[in-house]
Amino acid sequence: MACTHIIGTGSYAPSRVITNHELEKRVDTSDSWIRERTGIQERRQAAPDEATSDMAVHAARRALDMAGVAPEELDLIVVGTITADMPMPSCAAFVQAKLGARRAFAFDVGAACAGSLYAMSVADQFIRSGQVRKALVIGAELLSRVVNPDDRNTCILFGDGAGAMVLSPGDDAERGILSTHLHSDGGLAELITIPGGGSRTPMTEEAVRARLNTLHMNGREVFRFAVRALVESTQEALATHGLVPGQVDHVIAHQANARILDAALERLEIPRDKCWLNLHKYGNTSSASLPMTLDEAHRAGKLQRGQVIAMMAIGAGMTWGSAVVRW
Ligand code: COA
Repeated sequence: MACTHIIGTGSYAPSRVITNHELEKRVDTSDSWIRERTGIQERRQAAPDEATSDMAVHAARRALDMAGVAPEELDLIVVGTITADMPMPSCAAFVQAKLGARRAFAFDVGAACAGSLYAMSVADQFIRSGQVRKALVIGAELLSRVVNPDDRNTCILFGDGAGAMVLSPGDDAERGILSTHLHSDGGLAELITIPGGGSRTPMTEEAVRARLNTLHMNGREVFRFAVRALVESTQEALATHGLVPGQVDHVIAHQANARILDAALERLEIPRDKCWLNLHKYGNTSSASLPMTLDEAHRAGKLQRGQVIAMMAIGAGMTWGSAVVRW
């Protein structure tokens, strides 16, 4: 069966830079603590008049340009996001309208930081089934709107951004998205939540006062779980294709914490220099991070035809997964 090919990538980061030093002035933290414990030096923050779909459209246009695909040719738009412009309709609906992608059906996937990997997998299944020929996959996140700026456990980690890829069926069965492997464990849902604003705890004045509309996280537990989950699911993906770690040319990973990636790569026996890192510049951009990373590596000319790319991501839910792509 022909594989789905990634024929274009794009990314967008807002221009406003928030350095660790700026955060030092706001919460009890230090540049050295943040660098040592996370690898993050700065992150981006969207402008007050910017919404998630605006960032998504910037990234999407770049990916479409690279692919040479017009918005009217798209059959499907899937956006991985937990910070859509509003609770309803989806972020994807706004993206579709702004792009003028009239033929596409459009929806969001809510899998937090694994959102773009989930979205890519969904689009891949539609393409493999023959129902879709051109798909736009986006990860876009405006986390600065949901992070509590006074919570040093979370405000240092997250940033805003968007990444996109254009997918289409390829003739070459040896190349493209060879497989995706998705997992969830809702038993761990409490590890990362935005507890207010949903049907359980509607957005009341009291809920906002208690900051229930912001992100809450048990960082230590997430860290422990993330390393194991990323290792196991990447091993699963490689084993599916009879690949050994030495055959992996690049790791394109969700950028949560440099120490999480270091620990996972060490256990996988994949050298660190095979993993493209940009979290020092952007922090954790949740679902945006994987396609932003792919786009950076691609535009830097690092991805050569035929090379093996292992993708991995993990997020709230917990959700996680991996993919093997032959470029
Ligand atoms: N600055 C300074 N000190 C901080 C701090 C900050 N920004 N945040 C926490 N601390 C303190 C803690 O209060 C704690 O102090 P204590 O020992 O007096 O209680 C100490 O640093 C160590 O805390 P701990 O939580 O064990 O640190 P850590 O090494 O696990 O690093 C995270 C914290 C959040 C950076 C880390 O756990 C992490 O990255 N987890 C994964 C988060 C993640 O990726 N989430 C998204 C998933 S997609």
